Amino acid sequence: MASWQRAHTITGLPTQEVPVPGRAASADGDAIISIQHVTKSFGSHTVLRDVTFDVPRGKTTAIMGPSGTGKSVMLKVIIGLLKPEQGQIYVDGEPIVGVREKDVFRIRRKFGVLFQDGALFGSMSLYDNIAFPLREHTSKAEREIRAIVLQKAELVGLVDHLAKLPGEVSGGMRKRAGLARALVLEPTIILFDEPDSGLDPVRVAYLDDLVNTAQQETGATFFVITHNIQSVMRTADYMGLLFRSRLVAFGSKVEMTSSSDPIVKQFLAGQAEGPIGMDEMAESDAVPGDGARRPEAAVGVASADH
Ligand SMILES: Nc1ncnc2c1ncn2[C@@H]1O[C@H](COP(=O)(O)OP(=O)(O)O)[C@@H](O)[C@H]1O
Ligand SMILES: [Mg+2]
Repeated sequence: MASWQRAHTITGLPTQEVPVPGRAASADGDAIISIQHVTKSFGSHTVLRDVTFDVPRGKTTAIMGPSGTGKSVMLKVIIGLLKPEQGQIYVDGEPIVGVREKDVFRIRRKFGVLFQDGALFGSMSLYDNIAFPLREHTSKAEREIRAIVLQKAELVGLVDHLAKLPGEVSGGMRKRAGLARALVLEPTIILFDEPDSGLDPVRVAYLDDLVNTAQQETGATFFVITHNIQSVMRTADYMGLLFRSRLVAFGSKVEMTSSSDPIVKQFLAGQAEGPIGMDEMAESDAVPGDGARRPEAAVGVASADH
């Protein structure tokens, strides 16, 4: 049985059977990211409480949850932009919490990140945006860069639009350019923060197809945080649900869709009746403080966030 299946049962909190820290990520190679007992607070507000789960390698995992439940915070904790008060995160078996900055930067290079707003440079063409991480972090010649940019642009269907500025194309195209940029350094893990945000349902469906194609083509681990259930059903192999600071469930798509947990059932069905209150479902656009934004600028690799 795979490590993440041992560690997490679908019912109850996934902290009841706790693997030896780090073992899941290194023993059998199944988990590429292992999140162990992570607690993150801002002042008296505990956003993540004792969150534990493993992200299986080479698959698509989605973490869902109402707005304001800490999904973006979790993503930032995983790449070392925010430091949890408790817990550890192993990436390919290596701890990221409390290690030297130099090691955080090295580990972070395994990630490509597609931030919530696409985060393209507005004054650069799509071509230059996609080329940016290559120019910034490699010594490749322009000819080589061009070949890579064209290859990724073709994958996301943007070859004919590369000369345009982000402001001249649709939101869907900006997301695709963000995806191409997240792919150019060939990261082993791609993180997506609400890839569907700001897109109409047809564009979301199109982007989901693209996410699936890109996952198959790259073989990378895709980790998506979102509250779009339809989108999760189209793309995810594994899924978890964050609710009131806790990870209430984590499992394969089949396990989750057949769960009898009332929170999971309500969330997946998008129903008004159940343990999740109206305010929690409706809450949106939680505006994080300045502190949440500033560290993003430090992400150098494939995620320039401007
Ligand atoms: N840097 C920060 N300082 C204070 N509070 C923050 C910060 N970043 C996020 N938060 C708070 O943490 C909670 C979770 O935020 P977030 O992870 O952005 O939610 P979401 O699940 O919608 O992505 C929110 O209440 C938000 O206001
Ligand atoms: Mg968010």
